[in-house]
Parts: sequence; structure tokens; C-alpha cells
Amino acid sequence: MPGTSAASTALVAARGARPTVTWAAVAMAAIGRTDTEENMESTGQLRRRFPRASEVARFVGPTFRRHKTGRWSRVRTVSDFQALARRRTPMSVFDYVEGAAELELSKDRAVAAFDRVVFSPHVLRDVSRVDASTTILGRTAALPVVFGPTGFTRMMHAGGEAAVARAAGRAGIPYTLSTLGTTSIERLAAEAPTTDRWFQLYVSKDRGRSSEFVARAAESGYTTLVLTVDVPVAGARHRDVYNGLTFPPSLTGRTLLGMLGKPRWLFDALTTEPLAFESLGAAQDVMGLINTVFDPSVSLADIDWLRSQWVGAIVVKGVQRLDDALDIAAAGADGIAVSNHGGRQLDRAATPLELVPSLADAIGGTAEIYLDGGVRSGADVAAAIAFGARAAFVARPYLYALMAGGEHGVDHLTRLLHDDYVRTLKLLGITRTADLNRDIVSLMPT
Ligand code: FNR
Repeated sequence: MPGTSAASTALVAARGARPTVTWAAVAMAAIGRTDTEENMESTGQLRRRFPRASEVARFVGPTFRRHKTGRWSRVRTVSDFQALARRRTPMSVFDYVEGAAELELSKDRAVAAFDRVVFSPHVLRDVSRVDASTTILGRTAALPVVFGPTGFTRMMHAGGEAAVARAAGRAGIPYTLSTLGTTSIERLAAEAPTTDRWFQLYVSKDRGRSSEFVARAAESGYTTLVLTVDVPVAGARHRDVYNGLTFPPSLTGRTLLGMLGKPRWLFDALTTEPLAFESLGAAQDVMGLINTVFDPSVSLADIDWLRSQWVGAIVVKGVQRLDDALDIAAAGADGIAVSNHGGRQLDRAATPLELVPSLADAIGGTAEIYLDGGVRSGADVAAAIAFGARAAFVARPYLYALMAGGEHGVDHLTRLLHDDYVRTLKLLGITRTADLNRDIVSLMPT
């Protein structure tokens, strides 16, 4: 009846003056409905019934039941790891990972470039079986992914380089130890004996010291030397200055507050071996030591010099131009990592994803091309390979995963990357890494 309130119509039955309340009527009143003829017409004569208790329980149960699928079940993306990492580490440490140089444009552009990827999938292909593996420098990898070098890793989580290297080994992908590692060349080899271990070299002002590193890496069974060439001087990372970050982290009023707020991180840091650059050796003056690590006079001739003392593969990391890439390939490098150091060196640098196709076309037959920077998912890996890279280097994502949950966190990340990559291949109608090509991918113009 128009003008009658829903509640009074539903709750007051016609049996005498006393109102009789039924559950159905209460439910109808709660949703502001009455069973007037008008309503019956608009709902098409819904025949209602009273639900059984068991049906109600089955309906609402999943909402209140504790999820039994494990602590990682709600971590699905690198952004999820990033958010957890932010909660679990002091701000100065998180910012050291997250940050980049100057306006951080290089970093942001490298990540954003993947938003412009457009896939053109095949359909009606049998994708019931997919082979995600590939070969990198002649060795089989379960995924076309390499964990790139990051210094200071025990500062992010006490598990450090060893935890990441073991997880990489379980996932069947190479791991690269940095010259600025907080785990020594030898200790990492002992802790991750079955991982394909690469060693990243900064050629030092003291060439004798660099030769010593090369010899130690060979002795400890590392297969590949990664020569990083985009650090003639350290980039200007303003976040670290604002946060007063020192190595090892020291206690000032500001950093103390940050660390006390993360008791788990602090407990781990205080109850495990003190942080040190284990390969470089102990030094009183850490910053002075770092300054001797980067030699601004490194040149193309140093590739020859390295070749004279290293029999394994040589990858040059930090290349951003075709002419340089041609020279480096001609100088005998086995691989070239197209990289702007995650935006941590020169800002406003070229975006790796945009550079890869032309470098792969010009050099792919001579040296392997890797994309380094901005990869945040298995679909990004698939795009990088389709554009011509042999493999994608990944760095910040494994650091976020490490900060979020130690070695288990990194294991979860490698599972996600693998599953995401395989699903992407299936959706593209492709069954092997080797079949990813330029035909199924393009980049939207900016
Ligand atoms: C790095 N990177 C780096 N590169 C290198 O050659 N030697 C090093 O010691 C380090 N250290 C390092 C520390 C941290 C905290 C980060 C985040 C990065 C650069 C790294 O290998 C890689 O080039 C970029 O980080 C790639 O970009 P994404 O994957 O982080 O987007």
C-alpha cells in the first residue's frame, strides 16, 4: 500500500491488535521491502522460504573461517611483498632498497614501461604442457630469470645473500653476489653449493684487489663474472642522506626510533654476526673503502684484462647505448645487461625495456642480451623475453620478499614468478620460452 512504512507493514500482522514477527518479515523489513502486490509484480513472483540453519552456516562460514592455506596465501604480487617489507624494516633500510638517484625518474620509468606492453595472444593452441626453462650462457635455467647483484643484503634481513642464493638454487635460476656483499665469496659458495653462482665485480682502483676477487670466485666455483660499468662514482640517493643511513646502520636519535619500531629486525640484527663487507674485508673507514671500489678510469681495455684471468663467462652490466653494446660485444663479452642500475646512478637514463629490442636485433647473435630493471611479475618476464632478452634480471623484488619473510619469502616470490610466467605463456598460446617472439608483443606509444 503506497504511503505505508515498510517496517509497519512487515511487522504488524492482521491477527488481532498484537503484532506477530516472522523472520522472513524481519529480513524483508531490514532490506526495506514489503510483500505488497506491487513488489510481487516487480520481482516476478519470487517464492520465498525460510532457510535452514545448515544453509546459513554454509553461506557465512567461509567469511569467518580462518584461512588454512598458509601465511603467504594473501601475498600475490611484488607490491604485496613491498607493503609487508615496509612494515617489517626500519624506514632507512626500506628506503635504501626502494630509493633511487635524484628525482628517481629512471626507476619509475623502468617500472611504468611494462604498463605499456600489449600482448597479441594466439588461440586454439594446445597449451596443456608448458616448458618454462631456457639456457643462459649455456646452462639450463628453470625460468629465464637471474637474481641480480645487490650489496648490503644482510642489512635488509639477517638471512642475507645466503638465503636469497639458496632460494634461487631451489627455483633453478642463477644468483649474483655483489662485490659489496655482506657474505663472503667463500661463505656463499658453502651455503648455496648447488646454486649457479655469478660474481659481480666493481673494478677497483687497486687492480691487484680485483684480480684477487676474480681468483677467489674461480676457486669457489662461480660460473660467471658480471662487470658493472655504470658506477664511475656513486649516484646521488637523497633518501639515504635524509634518513641519515650509514653502513653499518648506526644509532642516532632518528634511526633509533625507526629501529625500535621494528623489534624483530632489531633482534635479528643484534643476535647475528655484525654487518661487514665480507669479501672486501674489514675496514675502519667503510666509506673510504667504498670509494676505492669504484675506479672512474675503467675502460673497454679492462674486458681484455679480465679475460686474461677468467675462463668463465663475462657479462657487462649497465649498458644503455647501441654503440657501446657493439664495442663490448666486439671486445668479447658473452652477455650484456641492459640496465640503468635500477635508477640508482644516472637519473633520466634510458628505459631498459625500450632499449632491448634494438640491442637484441644488433647483438643477439654475438652476445646474450638481458633486461635489467622494472621487472615485477612473470608477465613482465615474458614481455622482456618476447622483446628479445635472453633473461630478465630481478633485484628489488627479491629484496622486498626477503624483508617481508626471509628465505621463505624469497621461495614464495620464485613460486609466484614461475606460476605467473607459465600462466602468461598459456594465455599467449605458447608452450616454450623459445617460442616467445616480437610477433606477440608491442609497446603502446607514450
Ligand atoms: C642494487 N644494484 C646493484 N648493482 C650492482 O651491479 N652491484 C651492486 O652492488 C648493487 N647493489 C644494489 C643494492 C640495492 C639495494 C638495489 C636495489 C640495487 C642494482 C641492481 O643489480 C639492479 O641493476 C637494479 O636494482 C634493477 O632494477 P630492479 O629489478 O630493482 O627494478
